[in-house]
Amino acid sequence: MPAPPLIQVHPLDPAAARAELLRGLRGEPPAIPPKYFYDALGARLFAAITELPEYTPTRTEAAIMAARLPEIARALDAQGCTLIDLGAGNCEKAARLFAALRPAQYVALDISVDYLAQSLDCLQRQYLELPMLGVGIDFTRALDLPPQVPAARRLFFYPGSSIGNFTPVAALAFLRALRAAAGDDGALLIGVDLVKDRAVLDAAYDDALGVTAAFNLNVLNHVNALVGADFDVRDWRHVAFYNEAQQRIEMHLEARRDVNVRLPGGALPFAAGRRIHTENSYKYTVPQFAQLMADAGFAVAQAFTDDRDTFALFAARAV
Ligand SMILES: C[S@@+](CC[C@H](N)C(=O)[O-])C[C@H]1O[C@@H](n2cnc3c(N)ncnc32)[C@H](O)[C@@H]1O
Repeated sequence: MPAPPLIQVHPLDPAAARAELLRGLRGEPPAIPPKYFYDALGARLFAAITELPEYTPTRTEAAIMAARLPEIARALDAQGCTLIDLGAGNCEKAARLFAALRPAQYVALDISVDYLAQSLDCLQRQYLELPMLGVGIDFTRALDLPPQVPAARRLFFYPGSSIGNFTPVAALAFLRALRAAAGDDGALLIGVDLVKDRAVLDAAYDDALGVTAAFNLNVLNHVNALVGADFDVRDWRHVAFYNEAQQRIEMHLEARRDVNVRLPGGALPFAAGRRIHTENSYKYTVPQFAQLMADAGFAVAQAFTDDRDTFALFAARAV
């Protein structure tokens, strides 16, 4: 069984990554874009996060999918579609849709190409009849799908509330880009974490075992490898909290002591307590997100939620 083909749309450009990271680190406030979490260890740490008792979005989304799959399939009317998985990771979520949606092709997009290639190879052995394609792409740069992805009947799948990593303004721009790529017969199935009790949100991003802390701190190791810096993770502390006014979880790395980090172009000092902003995760209410979808040109066929209204899966069609 040959491995599925893998097309590199945005081959890793070390110079561009270095420039982006240096710009962020020297910015005010210092920041690292969240896409850099996902080196090989980061992808595995994220998978571990989804198993944590405190982190419920992944399990809740899976439970909604399991319980409502026939309805989701009806709402999307997607039989024979090209299922396009945005940030496929281990591809497990999309695989759970195959039996009900009966796609004609599965296209897995991810920036972390080595992990994607492994996951896709594994999946192809389980689904021998389904044509699969891997695409190495940074879809925050541009949603440049290669010509091998059929233009008709595209169903975009964006689970896990990754849309929450964008600011609402950037989320709208991304949804509009999806709408343009979907064409007039396309659809979107998207998972969104909902506004909920602050204590629940705080615990979800600062778990007792420290797995989220390890995930956050590991980005410094990745940055060291990409730019030749000398961050020592022991100098930094994981900080995560819900910012109610902005309706978002913020993750930061805070200097435990005064540190001087070696970077190309000159050392960068961080006084004790100074933070590097590593991630936002915006939370929405169902009406807020439905409005965003409508503004982007999608008609929400149905929003599927759990019985405690903690997570929503929106099934929508292009209009
Ligand atoms: C939070 S994980 C979600 C994985 C899986 N879809 C799930 O829901 O369990 C995010 C995935 O998106 C990928 N990713 C993050 N930023 C990306 C970007 N800008 N372009 C393409 N893939 C990206 C990561 O490599 C990672 O596999």
